[in-house]
Amino acid sequence: MSDRLDAVLAHLDATHDAQIARLFDLLRIPSISTDPAHDNDVHAAAELCAAMLEDSGLKATVHTTSGHPMVVAHSNGPADGPHVLYYGHYDVQPPDPLDLWNAAPFEPVIVDTDGPARIVARGAADDKGQLMMFVEALRAWNEVGGGIPVRVTVLLEGEEESGSPSLDPFLAAHADELRCDVCVISDTGMWDPNTPAITTMLRGMVYLDVTLHGPSHDLHSGMFGGAVVNPLNELAKVLGDLHDSDGRITVDGFYDGVYEPSESQQQEWKNLGFDESAFLAEAGLDRSTGECGRSVLERIWSRPTLDINGITGGYGGAGAKTVIPAEASAKFSCRLVPGQDPDAIEAALRTHLQQHTPAGCRWTIESHGANPAIQVADESPWLEAAQYGLERIWNRRAVLVGCGGSIPVVGSFQEILGADSLLIGFGLDDDRVHSPNEKFNIDCYTGGARSHAAVVLALAEAGGA
Ligand code: BES
Ligand code: MN
Ligand code: MN
Repeated sequence: MSDRLDAVLAHLDATHDAQIARLFDLLRIPSISTDPAHDNDVHAAAELCAAMLEDSGLKATVHTTSGHPMVVAHSNGPADGPHVLYYGHYDVQPPDPLDLWNAAPFEPVIVDTDGPARIVARGAADDKGQLMMFVEALRAWNEVGGGIPVRVTVLLEGEEESGSPSLDPFLAAHADELRCDVCVISDTGMWDPNTPAITTMLRGMVYLDVTLHGPSHDLHSGMFGGAVVNPLNELAKVLGDLHDSDGRITVDGFYDGVYEPSESQQQEWKNLGFDESAFLAEAGLDRSTGECGRSVLERIWSRPTLDINGITGGYGGAGAKTVIPAEASAKFSCRLVPGQDPDAIEAALRTHLQQHTPAGCRWTIESHGANPAIQVADESPWLEAAQYGLERIWNRRAVLVGCGGSIPVVGSFQEILGADSLLIGFGLDDDRVHSPNEKFNIDCYTGGARSHAAVVLALAEAGGA
């Protein structure tokens, strides 16, 4: 078997340029799921993914849903081996603000000045570059390895960046087809460029869109100012009061049930030797802020947050306009940790806002979803097998890490399919995901594709024993 893996790895090396060309074809499609103007592009990306899976030797179908399509592909492996479900998402975040990109976001380029060679494009790391790593590994097994060593299903989603509204109903309706022994997801990061990571904790999320309504229409700020409520002034105050001077969130019940990581977990995190100043420097900062008395890793991995994502209202154009706006809006999200109930948090936020309604105003509140934090097994035969596969490629064990971001599908796989996930991703903290100039290092891509080739064999050996 090891000879076959060597052949597969050699083939991946030899076909590198063709792989990058295929990835570029996918990156050129602006599959922005949140923007209805791009519905056709999202659909085109689904079709291209299905065509590439077919070309890689799998049987692929594009399933329409009430939202964006789901791509499902199958490959029959040995009957006595495990069934592995691979997941990735082919949709991307909007590229805005466009003027901060050094090149057009949907015209991928390889940049090799000022740092390691990297692919720059929206979706390079999140998640087109990462999903193509396992597609290419499976292709290589089919082309030179004598076939993929396990039975495989691939599920590619087109709504991950916009709250996955169709995902749970789709999983429930196709549960038999998707039933598997273990899921593999590449949508997270490495520990550092030489050390792979397996993520075992993800934060959850509650997202609210709120508008504070005051006067019936915009008013002259000289004629009315000082005598009437200004929704922007009032919204700013309510938002400013959501944290106290210790960085804690002031909403009643917000911290109810929050788990403190065990002593041993905290010790393991300390042993990782996280370089806080390098992490902050990447963001152009020289200090961390947040809840008093917590390390950066705790703040990101095990503490809940509330962040304002955008504020709109009044006049934002050139020059000055003297106006009291009729309304003001804000979008804010809370990252949740184990022990917090997303519905209870959303209810607590709504109650807090109502109780702090400024005189003369009223709220309208819209929710964009509520997902719990997720933990996956940090000990299992599958995880051991993945460790073994990764070690063959990187010559060191993967570290087990938390993740501040959210991947709601992990919880859906647990609940609906009864399957746990291996979160094996190859992004880096400086990839600028969701930001201008998103990139994915070529070394991360090649190491990731090689890793998937080795891990699928390790899973076959673990499950076939
Ligand atoms: N791939 C990310 C999750 C992620 C973020 C992993 C940071 C590792 C580091 C995923 O595509 C994502 O952006 N998720 C959203 C979920 C939301 C839209 C429900 C997130 O975390 O904001
Ligand atoms: Mn992602
Ligand atoms: Mn994302």
